[in-house]
Amino acid sequence: MYYSDELVAQVRQSSDIVDVVGSYISLTKKGANYVGICPFHNDHSPSFSVSRSKQIYKCFACGEAGNVITFVMKYENITFVEAVKLLADRAGIKLPEVSVSAEEKRKSDKKLRLLEVNKEAATFFYRCLRSPHGERGMKYFKDRGLSDETINKFGLGFAGVNGREVVEVLRKKGFSDEEIRDSGIASVSEKNGLSSPFWNRVMYPIMDANHRVIGFGGRVLGDAKPKYLNSPETDIFDKRRNLYGFVFARNSRAGNLILCEGYMDVIAMHQAGFSQAVASLGTAFTQEQANLLSRYTKKVFLAYDSDGPGVKAALRAIDILKSADISGRVIDMRPAKDPDEFIKAYGSEAFQKRIDEAENSFYFLIRTIEGDYNQSDPEQRTQFYKAIAVKLCENFPEPLERENYLQAICERYGINTENMRNLVTEYASAKLAVPVYQKPKQTSQTKATQEDSGKIAESMLLTWLTDEPEMLPKIKKYISVQDFTDEIYRKVAERVFSDIENDCLDPPAVIDSFEEEEKNLVANIFQAKMPEITSEDERKRAFSDIIIRVKENSYNFFSENIGNDMSKMMDSIKLKKELESLKQKGVSLE
Ligand code: UTP
Ligand code: MN
Repeated sequence: MYYSDELVAQVRQSSDIVDVVGSYISLTKKGANYVGICPFHNDHSPSFSVSRSKQIYKCFACGEAGNVITFVMKYENITFVEAVKLLADRAGIKLPEVSVSAEEKRKSDKKLRLLEVNKEAATFFYRCLRSPHGERGMKYFKDRGLSDETINKFGLGFAGVNGREVVEVLRKKGFSDEEIRDSGIASVSEKNGLSSPFWNRVMYPIMDANHRVIGFGGRVLGDAKPKYLNSPETDIFDKRRNLYGFVFARNSRAGNLILCEGYMDVIAMHQAGFSQAVASLGTAFTQEQANLLSRYTKKVFLAYDSDGPGVKAALRAIDILKSADISGRVIDMRPAKDPDEFIKAYGSEAFQKRIDEAENSFYFLIRTIEGDYNQSDPEQRTQFYKAIAVKLCENFPEPLERENYLQAICERYGINTENMRNLVTEYASAKLAVPVYQKPKQTSQTKATQEDSGKIAESMLLTWLTDEPEMLPKIKKYISVQDFTDEIYRKVAERVFSDIENDCLDPPAVIDSFEEEEKNLVANIFQAKMPEITSEDERKRAFSDIIIRVKENSYNFFSENIGNDMSKMMDSIKLKKELESLKQKGVSLE
């Protein structure tokens, strides 16, 4: 017997941990938590703490921790399934005696229904655009230069004058409120009941590779914010794995794909004959999307905005493409801001020319950092050359390839190749010598404590983050998931980072996604006590201290496990550099 994740989640959410634990042991409210005598060890003072907001318990004396299900399992000494049954009974939830395959059938039926909801909604928006109500939307698209053919091909629509219309239409089609809500088209608010956030917006249906509508982007007509509203992720809308325009681009005969930033860019490019254009879905380009592209072609062009954020996003996309074995080329959009503008101003022939002249991503990288140095100042030019040497080392672990790029770059910037080669060697050997060959000798004692202190820092960082999810962008400036050296902490980081980004962090659910023997450790992260922080200054210091400890630990761990792997050496150089600059410049909480 086996229950689906959804069902377990439903049981968990219907079983408030304070109520459940409180029915076994006596709890008193203390601050934000409830405390009592720990039932799992011979406790004298109340060390057992239960958090209603996090739905987690933890004993600060014996370390026992978990969610409502693990509590019942341990207290009653029963299995997971038995605990779920017990809690379901208590909450009055009927557990169907379903087999796995029936359960799976239910899931796939549900998905089919959600696709139906989206299809009907898209049809409604489509008709609305072509009705008198949609005149303003139609005028908007026409003003942006879209032909009827393009408008039809992309199934563009208009969302109407209020958020209740589409809900009414869908109800009349026989969809339940739950289905309408689960499709992401509408949500329940106290003021409006079930209603859609999409109204007075032009609508871009988002299709998967099989022409099925899986979500929507809606754009305001004027300059109001947010410019685009996108459907939330649902059972059928996975933003990491789909791309706008891919449904058409996959059949394009261009032999390459063009990655752009916006829906309008994709549409303008298709209209101009570049049917190989795709865009991510209101979120940053992901590894999954890169992998998808790489199954179709290894030739990917980047058509990102020419402004600062566009360049930054392009550099990130280049790295992601690289992990999918694609060396992207960057299309120069200047003086236009984006492909849409470029094509309007200069036409498709000029755009084709820009594609043909697209810049190798390494040249693009170097040109981008060139702007950071004042080239007429000899001192700064030297710094620029050093930066080139570093980038050469970081990007090309393979000596032959590195040499080829070295020569090409030197020719481009009029640099003496011999000098550059010296810089590269100097950099590589200086950085390598420290971690690999001259690591200070450590006794096993000090090594163990260093490692422990690194892991403690990792867990403290996660506790801090789960207490204050809005810290994520600040933390991500310095720390990535890969920096966590402890396997479990890394898994927790991966899950928590992405849950926060998708606005669905639920600590008890995170706990349940781990193996039984790992749950305790994971729960401990969520309900650990952070040291008291009383001033903003202290907060800054604590943050800086934890970040540097995590980074340092990551570097130590990494440099110990390099062996003879050249690319790992290069990564290690990069880590070391990041660490040094952190220690020098400090960590900012801004
Ligand atoms: P842009 O503002 O460059 O989009 O944002 P665009 O498609 O070129 O828009 P217009 O209509 O010409 O002004 C790039 C992408 O970022 C997402 C959308 O996916 C958009 O297409 N985005 C932008 C949002 O999700 N929300 C926003 O508020 C803005
Ligand atoms: Mn635009």
